[in-house]
Formats: sequence, C-alpha cells, structure tokens
Amino acid sequence: MADGKWYKEMCVYHIWPRSFCDGNGDGIGDLWGVLQKLDYIRSLGADAIWFSPIYPSPNADFGYDISDYKNIHPDYGNLDVFRELLGEAHKRGMRVFLDLVMNHSSDEHPWFQESRKSRDNPYHDYYYWRPGKTVRGRLIPPNNWTSHFEGGAWEYDEKLGEYYLHLFARKQPDLNMENPRVRQEFKEIMRFWLDMGVDGFREDVVTFIAKTPGLPNSYPWLPAINGLEHFSNLPRVHDYLMEFKKDVLDHYDCFTVGESPNTTAETALRYIAEGPDQVLDEMIAFSYMEADCILTDMIPRPFSLRKLKRAMSDWQEKLEGKAWNALYIENHDHSRVISRYGSEQYRVESGKMLAAMYMLQRGTPFIYQGQEIGMTNLRLPSVELYPDVSTQNAARIASHVLPRGQVLKLIQRAARDNARSPMQWSAEPNAGFSKAEPWFAVNVNYPEINVADQEQDPNSLLNFYRKLIRFRKDNPVALYGTYREHDRKNRKLYVYERAYEGTRLLVICSFTADQVRFDAPEGIKLDKARQVLGNYEVNFVIANGFTTRPYELRVYLIENEVRNEEK
Ligand code: NOJ
Repeated sequence: MADGKWYKEMCVYHIWPRSFCDGNGDGIGDLWGVLQKLDYIRSLGADAIWFSPIYPSPNADFGYDISDYKNIHPDYGNLDVFRELLGEAHKRGMRVFLDLVMNHSSDEHPWFQESRKSRDNPYHDYYYWRPGKTVRGRLIPPNNWTSHFEGGAWEYDEKLGEYYLHLFARKQPDLNMENPRVRQEFKEIMRFWLDMGVDGFREDVVTFIAKTPGLPNSYPWLPAINGLEHFSNLPRVHDYLMEFKKDVLDHYDCFTVGESPNTTAETALRYIAEGPDQVLDEMIAFSYMEADCILTDMIPRPFSLRKLKRAMSDWQEKLEGKAWNALYIENHDHSRVISRYGSEQYRVESGKMLAAMYMLQRGTPFIYQGQEIGMTNLRLPSVELYPDVSTQNAARIASHVLPRGQVLKLIQRAARDNARSPMQWSAEPNAGFSKAEPWFAVNVNYPEINVADQEQDPNSLLNFYRKLIRFRKDNPVALYGTYREHDRKNRKLYVYERAYEGTRLLVICSFTADQVRFDAPEGIKLDKARQVLGNYEVNFVIANGFTTRPYELRVYLIENEVRNEEK
C-alpha cells in the first residue's frame, strides 16, 4: 500500500438489495440471498460491499426514505441476519459499507411524525417547517425552490398551517442539520453501525445537507431546477462533516465516500484533499454519467466521447497527488452503461472495453450488480410499469412537451429502473433471482445474459472482470501510476497512459464499431510493449499502430523502460 490507506487498493461491489437475490422466496431480494452470494462476490475480487439502504422504509424512494436508521427492513431480514452477513463477509476478507442518508428521512420516521404534531414539539425543529407567504390574498410556499422528484420543494400541512421542505419526494422531508440535536442523532447512528462492525458509509447527497440561513428565494435557473445555490456545497457542509469525523469517524478504521451532485473536481477537493481539512475519503463524480445528457439523464443528447473523456480526465488530473478518486460507470441511479456508452450489438466487446476504460484509472472502482455480466436496459411497453418516483416525475414533466410514444422512448432510455431489474443469475425461471414472481420485471434477455452461462465461458465478460481486477491488484502501475491522456480531441478513441517507477500502461479504447487508425503516441514502441488485456483474440501491430475493430480494447504494459532503451 503506497501510504497505508487500504481503500486505495480495494474494489467495491454495489448491491441494490431489492433486486440482488431473493433468499426467502417472496419475490424480493434480501440479506439471506446476499449470504448465498458472498462467495460469488468475493470470486470477482471484490474487497468490499456497499449496500444501498437496507433500513425500514415505506419505499417511496426504494429505501432512500428511511423510517428507522437503526434497524433492517423486514423485507430484507433483521439485525441478526445482518450481523451474520457482516461476520461472513469479514471472514472472506470483505468489508461492508452502508448507505447513510442524512439529508432527509421518511415522513413516516417518528421524528417527522412528532415534528408535525405542533410548533412547540421538541422535534419540530428537526425539519424545515416554515409558514407560507401571502401574496395578493393567496398562500404560497416560503420560497421558489424546486424538488428533484416532485415539482415544488414545499408541502403544506393543513393541520399545522406550515410548509415543510423536501428537496426530493414529498415523503422525504429534509432534516435540519443546523440543529445540533439532529447531528447528535446521526453521530449515534454512525456509532451504532460502526460498533457492530460496519466498515464505513456512502453518504447520500451529502453536498446538500446545509441550506442558506433564512432559506431565500432562488434565481430561477431553469423552470425545473431552483435553489441549487442555496442548498448545494454551502460552507457548513464541511463544518458538519468535520464534526462527524472528529467526534465519530476518526475513532474507527472506516471509509467514507460522499455522493456529490453538482460538484466539480475543484469543489470536491474541499472535502477530500488529503490533509487536516479532509472530511471524506472519496467523492462520487456526477459528470461521468453526463456524456449523453444535460445535467440529468432525462434530458438526453447523443453520446459524446469527448465529454466523457473531459469528465474523467478532469477528475484524474485535478485529484492527482491531492486526493483519491471514486471510479464508476453504473449505479442504481442510471440506466445500464452498455446501452448508453457502449453497444448492445457489440455487448461483450463494449462491456470489456468500458470495464477497462474506467477500472484502469487511478482510484477505487465500484462495480454495480449486473454490470459484470453486461446487463442491458429494459424495454417495458408502458410508462406505468416503471415504479421509480423520479421516473414518474420525469414522465409527467415530459408529457407536457412530448407525445406519448416519445415519453415512453425517453423512459425506456433514461429511467433508473433500467438498473433495478432483478439480477440475472441463470437461465432458470425468473432468471434464478427468486422462486416466486419477482417484485419487478426481469429483463427478457436473461436466457442469453446470466451469471451461470458466463461462469462456463473463459472469455465471458464476467471472467474478464475477474481478470481485470486481478491485474489491477498485481500491478502497482494500475493502482498508483500517474495519469496522462493522449489524443484528447479524438471523437472515437480514448487513449491514456499510466506511469509508475519505470513501468507504463497504455490503455486504448475504441468507442465505435467503425475502423479507426490508432498510432502509438510519441515515445511508445508497441513492439517493445506487452499486450496484457484486450477484447479480441488475434492482435496485429503495423507501423507502431493498428486499425481498431468494433469497440476494441487493448492494454499494453511497457516494463523496465530504462533497460529496454539501453539494449
Ligand atoms: C441519491 C440516491 O442515490 C438516489 O437513489 C436517491 O433517490 C436520492 N439520493 C435521494 O435520496
């Protein structure tokens, strides 16, 4: 380990529990199912598991609306099975991270239930309750902020005669982190899990946990996005995180990664730059998933490789020597990456290329369930069949401007639900996910895309992931090498180099089915390099370059350069 920080060499497997594996036969994924699959996860080379929320929740936002932070959702199990799972994961050398949602709770959480009872209830100030304004005899919300999931950000409570703030769904009221009692609650929640043996947290929309005092009106940027400047990356976010770190996290050997919408690499450094001001280990860059859309997946654009390269290189370059990256290309909030940045026609080739493209960069790779077998987007026949609250919200907004068929196309392309269909374990009924009817549609392609088949095939995407993870671990250049991008303007190829103590790694990724001529960058002789990874069997080099095949990937290792040059 370059500096003794274990998270720099780990690879994390991300589980969205409802759709991972059903162990008790009710059609819903659960912790018993995860227990059965721990060996599988470990066999990939994963060193840790991050669970999307597994706490009790009414599921208005599938677990991101928590009604009890110190328990397990009965759909998923109970504290005993969680403890067992923790022990079994640790036995296999894997750490376990939980999702910590501090920006909001569920409206069914006892804190909120109390807070809405009266203005002098001790919990009232746990949330942002405010009287409305009267304009020309009409009551309007306290300000013009909008929520991410359901129109305006304020909901009126008739009985109380006040509005509460919700930056996400109505059933996700924002917690008032300014209140020291709320911070105290979260310190206790963190200690509760860390004392049990949990190894860290992914902190949900952590850049939103402070709001401008007085909650002023926002400059209306876009009709659908108001208030960002008053709830995103305010200086108090850092103060709160520092308090959590000093009072709790510093007393444990644990890891934290912050989810950080609307955050540039420069801003991220405020939280993750190594040194006395560091409050998180890593941050999740949103720009990686904006190469085919504007700000949100629901405003699609054609895929732009240059935009993707700019995003990735920006974080690589700006964090170099200062902070550590979180690397990902899929999670539960985005549709499947092969359907977006790759090609369903060249599914295996593009899946391998995309895997190497991000995993060989500098940072901690996160792999989302199903990504390792190349799961693709669902194509359900009607919008109503997509259960996610943000999908339904986007469909409602889109229906004002698009005809029905186009709305369906948009949802099929961009809905988060695409990543939430049951994991495809085998060609058995329900993709081997459950013996009962699954809670959500299984992708019809499971007979062709599933774990069991790919286990048998040495050239499968699944086995490629294993090889790639092994390679990262065995090669310090892949872990600690510096990063340098070549041929930035190329719209079809992504080429970068890593360098570490006399060894270089050259990664060449084609993002097209077209043939493209690749010429090695100056100073690199491909005939002195060894190809260590790729997605085609036979590889020729002609005149220090080659012509790419569809979505071709080649990774070259150039070792002991000084000696090579001397020869
Ligand atoms: C980010 C989570 O990843 C997403 O799934 C959730 O809907 C929002 N935060 C709100 O908690």
